[in-house]
Amino acid sequence: MPRVTFIIDGEAHVVDVDLASMPSSHHGLPGSLLDIAKNFDVPLEHACGGSCACTTCHVVVREGGGNLSDMQDDEGDRLDTAWDVTPHSRLGCQAVVRGDVVCEIPMYTRNYVQEGGAIQLGKSTAQTPGAWTPAKA
Ligand code: FES
Repeated sequence: MPRVTFIIDGEAHVVDVDLASMPSSHHGLPGSLLDIAKNFDVPLEHACGGSCACTTCHVVVREGGGNLSDMQDDEGDRLDTAWDVTPHSRLGCQAVVRGDVVCEIPMYTRNYVQEGGAIQLGKSTAQTPGAWTPAKA
């Protein structure tokens, strides 16, 4: 069971993910960092529904980069437009988890949601209470 740590403002949010039973959040690729964040109420924002059309889900991988799916050309092309991109940057909606990962949600990002961008194609929806209870570490 992979352990995913999201660092937000220096605080670690740790979740243990049973990828086989986790339902799809319909945000990003199944099992992606964004999909996991949505299932565990981690505030990783997105503006395109996880379709690799914005950079709002930008994360910086601190550990376990080899436990993520390989970056595809469309992700790399989109990531080139992210603010403050690093060699360890990924798009949360495209990076699929295969093992333990530590990633940081940057303090500043090109946030198309909060900037009122016109491409708000996807917004999170509240989970139905009791529909599925994630196991938190
Ligand atoms: S949510 Fe838009 S690129 Fe990931």
